[in-house]
Amino acid sequence: MKHLKTQVAIIGAGPSGLLLGQLLAKQGIDNIILERVTGDYVLGRIRAGILEQGFVDLVREAGVAQRMDTEGHVHDGFEIAVNGESTRIDLKQLTQGKTVVCYGQTEITRDLMEAREQADLQILYETSEVKLNEVKSDKPFITFEYQGETYRLDCDYIAGCDGFHGVSRKTIPEDKRTEHERVYPFGWLGLLSDTPPVSDELIYCKSERGFALASMRSETRSRYYLQVPLSDSTDDWSDDKFWDELKKRLPAEAAERLVTGPSIEKSIAPLRSFVCEPLQYGRLFLVGDAGHIVPPTGAKGLNLAASDVSTLYKILTRVYRDGDTDCIDQYSAIALRRIWHGERFSWWMSNMLHDYGSTAVSDMEAETFDRFMDSELDYYLHHEEGQKVIANQYVGMPYEELR
Ligand code: APR
Ligand code: PHB
Repeated sequence: MKHLKTQVAIIGAGPSGLLLGQLLAKQGIDNIILERVTGDYVLGRIRAGILEQGFVDLVREAGVAQRMDTEGHVHDGFEIAVNGESTRIDLKQLTQGKTVVCYGQTEITRDLMEAREQADLQILYETSEVKLNEVKSDKPFITFEYQGETYRLDCDYIAGCDGFHGVSRKTIPEDKRTEHERVYPFGWLGLLSDTPPVSDELIYCKSERGFALASMRSETRSRYYLQVPLSDSTDDWSDDKFWDELKKRLPAEAAERLVTGPSIEKSIAPLRSFVCEPLQYGRLFLVGDAGHIVPPTGAKGLNLAASDVSTLYKILTRVYRDGDTDCIDQYSAIALRRIWHGERFSWWMSNMLHDYGSTAVSDMEAETFDRFMDSELDYYLHHEEGQKVIANQYVGMPYEELR
């Protein structure tokens, strides 16, 4: 068996693991990342790309912001269209100056991978049989297979950044964790194309045919989504069928402007709300998708991962700089408070904008329910107080400081 040693072992080279690793390295805290797949495979995943200010600040602090700052686009607002009638949520005005940045998660991941390579920091790709051991002791260690050999990695702390399907969360005994989950009765079919976006701001559309979202990656690359039944597969959706359906769900003037073209990626993602409590067990911390999932409607997935990273980074900096190990117990409560805000907002936005089909027991009840929904939309879209609720959550709740 080969032996390795580090201060913080990080499982997973997604945005959470890479960002945490970069920040810790800046503080002189040694870390090694173990990743199950290849770097190219990680970069092949198409994910969202709306960054809150807190995320942007963190990437700057990590010293990896150069491309994001030149190629990312600041968005001062976005649109919500209901049955073709569009309302602009003016983020900047409603939040007294806050905005978001549009820059793809894939690009952030690429920038972080390059920075890590340049700094000569270790990522072991294609590790298998990763097992977390003695995480309740002060000498945890990880065992794994790498390039045909068995390894043991000794460390002080473990950051479980290995996504929803990773091993870290499952290391916490079942009777020591509670998993809250809601699975939604539809999915999002996403299409990426090298076509100019239909608008320079995002358009979230509620229509009688279901939800749609017009998003983008750059001035020449668009990302669109359609709400589809979970029983659908991408084979059911030719490019032509996708574009036709999108046109029917967009407001008319946007549909007229829409430039279509061949897809370069198409996939269906289920929608899920999920939170594991607590996010900490001994010297193991769950970060990002390993501990929680949101439906994508509020653009919160990556941003909640970033606030976890920020909290853990502050804790580990204090541990190694001041020798204060008591502060580690704050992680779960601080992270979860913000996560539940993001969970609630994402669930609520999803409820408000998607078609769930009727569960009413009579026509009258269905009609009453429609009135409730109309009134909710009217309040949140057509009154300033309502718009402020959406805007303040969309730009993100503030990060909490350690006690
Ligand atoms: N060993 C090592 N690595 C693993 C293991 C394992 N057993 N299991 C999973 N991984 C890796 C995955 O291959 C993946 O690269 O962990 C990484 C987790 O990355 P993500 O799933 O991207 O999770 P995270 O970094 O927390 O990013 C959160 O991703 O899904 C979006 O909405 C989410 O934008 C948010 C972001
Ligand atoms: C995306 O661009 O992929 C995207 C943007 C906003 C969302 C979800 C996805 O709410």
